[in-house]
Amino acid sequence: MVHNKIPTRSNVQKVLGHLKLSEGIIYLNGNVMQERDNTDCELPFRQESNFYYVTGVNEPDFHVVIDIATKKTILVAPNIDPDHVMWMGLPDTLEEMQAKYDVDQVVYADKLNALVQTASKIYTLPISKTTAIDSVSSKLVDAAGQKKLENAFIDARLIKADWEVEIMRKANKISSDAHIKLWKAAHPGCNEAQLHALFLYESARHGAFFQSYFPIVGSGMNAATLHYNKNNAIMNANDVVLVDAGAEFELYASDITRVFPVNGKFTPEARVIYSIVLEMQKKCIDLCKAGVAWEDIHYTATEVGCDGLLKTGILVGDKQEILDKSVMAAFFPHGIGHSIGMDVHDVGGYPDGVERINKPGIRNLRMRRVLAPGFAVTVEPGIYFFDYLINPVLNNADTGKYINVDVLNKYKSVGGVRIEDNIIVTEGAPINLTTVPKEIDQIEALMASN
Ligand code: GLY
Ligand code: MN
Ligand code: MN
Repeated sequence: MVHNKIPTRSNVQKVLGHLKLSEGIIYLNGNVMQERDNTDCELPFRQESNFYYVTGVNEPDFHVVIDIATKKTILVAPNIDPDHVMWMGLPDTLEEMQAKYDVDQVVYADKLNALVQTASKIYTLPISKTTAIDSVSSKLVDAAGQKKLENAFIDARLIKADWEVEIMRKANKISSDAHIKLWKAAHPGCNEAQLHALFLYESARHGAFFQSYFPIVGSGMNAATLHYNKNNAIMNANDVVLVDAGAEFELYASDITRVFPVNGKFTPEARVIYSIVLEMQKKCIDLCKAGVAWEDIHYTATEVGCDGLLKTGILVGDKQEILDKSVMAAFFPHGIGHSIGMDVHDVGGYPDGVERINKPGIRNLRMRRVLAPGFAVTVEPGIYFFDYLINPVLNNADTGKYINVDVLNKYKSVGGVRIEDNIIVTEGAPINLTTVPKEIDQIEALMASN
């Protein structure tokens, strides 16, 4: 696939700005081509995200050397190997690479050791493999130095530039359109695999050959498994289907969840649960503004969900006690969302010194930070009916009293509902990149318009 030239030198500047050092070099190795076990069949190649961030190169076996003082970025390409050319075709020439990538210079790998010889210190990431520069291993920084560089990458990558937002918008558009195609294709008797395959097809034909993660297509009770990935069950007419799927476009992720009724009409029970989750999501999206602590958005989702379940009668008793005793974690066991960028669960979860809140539900929150302009996050509340999670709460004398089993049983077959959009944080109103509709009437109308 052809990648547009992206302004990676501005990313190098950002990383160096956070690193705040005056000398030494950064050395990173890109991912290498890998083969399937005991065969010579190449696996699909996808560049390591930090490497891509500073080079724009999505090809195997490259390295990069960045001089901290001069900011000069030198891309190191693999030497041409005739056998490799026979199987994989001709690589770009040095001149073509120089035109294609936003770097200062491109050299072949036989120059790599000369490039690093004179460095005073060599900064790498904890994930870097340094076998190619073994001759200067004494100059490599220790674990604290690696962490320092990692934090600089995290701080840079957390704040998306406008051009990154535009790529993510495209990933969202491709995925949003694909979700709607699935609604129109689903029918009683349809296999989850058909929808999975259709999502891949719709993504690929719009230029997205990779998914940000393995798609989740769960009908009926399968929707209660958060990362269900068997995707091979037959759908029943009264099921809702949870599809959590997002295409990766030009190495940027989208991560979208929608839930729809197989036969085109939500059952009364599904309608109730869906409406609660939608309210949780809308209230949380409204809160996605600079200065707001991410855990407070999670608490809002929990509280709105609790109000909803009290109203249905699934939960009974004092709201504050229910919240204090984390009863909601039986129904909403995961966090409200996470940072998203080149990786679906992107950098920037917990800054050094910030701990997880060790309570059911919120302990699974993937990020604890105060939102800043340029953050990209998912907002993805859910309510699930999974006995494995509910029974321990139900069977505990201290918490079981807050759940009305008869009412719960009436709703269980809904399985699970999650609604997930991708949001850009600003000083003002949040920007929602996800365009697929989510109102019940819109979903039913689109499904009826087949
Ligand atoms: N698709 C994985 C997630 O929503 O985090
Ligand atoms: Mn997500
Ligand atoms: Mn998701």
